[in-house]
Amino acid sequence: MKVAVGADHGGFLFKQALLSYMTLLGYQTVDLGAYNEEPLDDYPDFARAVAVTVRSGEAQRGILVCGSGVGASIAASKIPGIRAAVCHDTYSAHQGVEHDDMNVLCMGERVIGLELAKEIVTVYLGAIFSGEDRHMRRLQKIGAIEREFLKSS
Ligand code: RB5
Repeated sequence: MKVAVGADHGGFLFKQALLSYMTLLGYQTVDLGAYNEEPLDDYPDFARAVAVTVRSGEAQRGILVCGSGVGASIAASKIPGIRAAVCHDTYSAHQGVEHDDMNVLCMGERVIGLELAKEIVTVYLGAIFSGEDRHMRRLQKIGAIEREFLKSS
C-alpha cells in the first residue's frame, strides 16, 4: 500500500516522524510537503496535494497533519471521492475505514502526542472497508450528495 502524506507547519514534525514510522512498518510513502517548517505555509495546499494523489489512485490512502487536523480535513473533503476525517482515537481510525471507507486520515500535532498518532496510523492503515450492504448504501448516498452539489456549484 502506498500512503500519501502532507502537513503544514502545524504538523511538520509529526509528518517527518510518521514517514519514518510507516517506512519501518513496510509501507511505501510519498511525501507531498511541506519540505521545511515554514510558518507562512497554508494547509489547503498540502490537503489538495494528498487528496489529488489518493483520488488518482497513485496512493491508496492519505494522511494529513496540521495543528488541529480540522483545516486539513475540511480542505481534503472538498475533492470528490475523498473521505477525510480527523481521528484522535484508535476506534475512529479503524471504524472510519471499516464503515465509511475513510481514505484520508487527519490529525492535529497540537492535540495528541506522537505515540498515540503512531497507534492511530497503525490501525488506520491496517483497517479494510467491510463492504457490507448498509455501508455501501450510505456511501452511495454520500456520492449522490456530492454529485448533486457539484452540479449546482
Ligand atoms: C496553522 O497555524 C493552523 O491553523 C493549521 O495548522 C490548522 O490547525 C488548521 O486547522
